[in-house]
Amino acid sequence: MSPALSLDNVSCTFLSRDDPSQRYTAVSDTTLIVGEGEFVSVVGPTGCGKTTLLNVAAGLLAPSTGHVKIFGDPLAGINSRAGYMFQSDALMPWRNTIENVIAGLEFRGITRTEALEQGNEWLQRVGLSGFGGALSPPALGRHAQARGAGADAHSQPADPAHGRTVLGT
Ligand SMILES: Nc1ncnc2c1ncn2[C@@H]1O[C@H](COP(=O)(O)OP(=O)(O)O)[C@@H](O)[C@H]1O
Ligand SMILES: [Mg+2]
Repeated sequence: MSPALSLDNVSCTFLSRDDPSQRYTAVSDTTLIVGEGEFVSVVGPTGCGKTTLLNVAAGLLAPSTGHVKIFGDPLAGINSRAGYMFQSDALMPWRNTIENVIAGLEFRGITRTEALEQGNEWLQRVGLSGFGGALSPPALGRHAQARGAGADAHSQPADPAHGRTVLGT
């Protein structure tokens, strides 16, 4: 089976923030293969390019050179088979807990009934069943996690074992 994520010789070059006349290469000739169900941590000091790499994997950033494949297919645009947990919880404060959890599913056009079913299942998994209606609930990070994990329903049930990559930064 093709890997869930394949970064082949990826480089990312930006205009330097300090001096826009200069170019800055944040990621250089990086190859990373992640199999389905595999847990991988990318560890390194601040500024070494971890988030840049995840942004490439999520399809938020096209690499300057190199190739990205998702389950064997070249990635074009957003990686719809990935959920992305940002460094900050990035919750939408005007939405209650369950509405935050199902946001990704909703944006993807999944029916509300199905989205609510999957969202509530994820709240249960992270120990927050019954908190769906809360506006300022405890354990905000766990809601974000549930949203990140549930954001990619694809055609499968919301289960990390079923062909989804969850990216966390
Ligand atoms: N859009 C951008 N434009 C210019 N420089 C950037 C941009 N994104 C990231 N960088 C630079 O690339 C380097 C790597 O950033 P980043 O991937 O956020 O590192 P990490 O997540 O490992 O802390 C940093 O020096 C950062 O300032
Ligand atoms: Mg980072």
